[in-house]
Amino acid sequence: MSIYLGIDVGGSGIKGAPVDLETGQFAADRLRIPTPSKSTPKAVAEVVGQIIEHFGDTIGDAPVGLTIPAPVVHGRVPFIANLDKKWTGLDADAFFTETLGRPITLVNDADAAGLAEVRFGAAGGHPGLVIVTTLGTGIGSAIIHRGVLLPNTELGHLELDGYDAEKRAASSIKDKEGLSYAKWAKRLQRYYSHLEMLFSPDLFVIGGGVSKDWDQFGPLLELRTPAVPAKLRNQAGIIGAAMAAADAQVHPEDH
Ligand code: BGC
Repeated sequence: MSIYLGIDVGGSGIKGAPVDLETGQFAADRLRIPTPSKSTPKAVAEVVGQIIEHFGDTIGDAPVGLTIPAPVVHGRVPFIANLDKKWTGLDADAFFTETLGRPITLVNDADAAGLAEVRFGAAGGHPGLVIVTTLGTGIGSAIIHRGVLLPNTELGHLELDGYDAEKRAASSIKDKEGLSYAKWAKRLQRYYSHLEMLFSPDLFVIGGGVSKDWDQFGPLLELRTPAVPAKLRNQAGIIGAAMAAADAQVHPEDH
């Protein structure tokens, strides 16, 4: 069976769709429900339950994958920056599986987006070292070498010039500080030059909602490494979540 339900938990919305993993296409229209203002695991699980119910007829008892904006280490959440602190230390796979009565696999949101971009999107089948970053409320990262993910990298929290990098260069900071694209691009330049020096990747894929405005900041970046905007846009997290649910069936020990 190749249909899995992918659900992407973000700071403002929880979005889900059944995904056909042969093609990377949605098997039904996406459903979005706003993230509860108190984004505890319990409140998020309620919304996730509604999304599962909505797609019940399409997915039957298919496995479910769920992204969250935090590292997920063998099902556990060691820390979280941008959702309720009740997530910290939670055995999240077990909590969601028990609360919702079906197997649920959690995955870091940027890892999910990265896997989706390498399989179906901007880095389709890339043979080398790809770094996918998502610019949103925070900065997420995925490092993928020859199609294999190095999970749970947290390059948004690199300390740069005395700051947590995402507090300088996330797109939410651009909005909060009212930065022009040119001003923001200077911060991105500093950030991506640093990543380039540390990792020497073959390709940067730059995602997050703001990647739709690529023309306004992408061409301002001067890097040795080719940089391209993400292709799957806001579908990447959902597709990657579905991929994680499929992977958990083959490699349960990794989740
Ligand atoms: C979190 C990461 C996440 C990123 C994007 C960061 O603050 O620590 O785990 O991938 O935000 O949501």
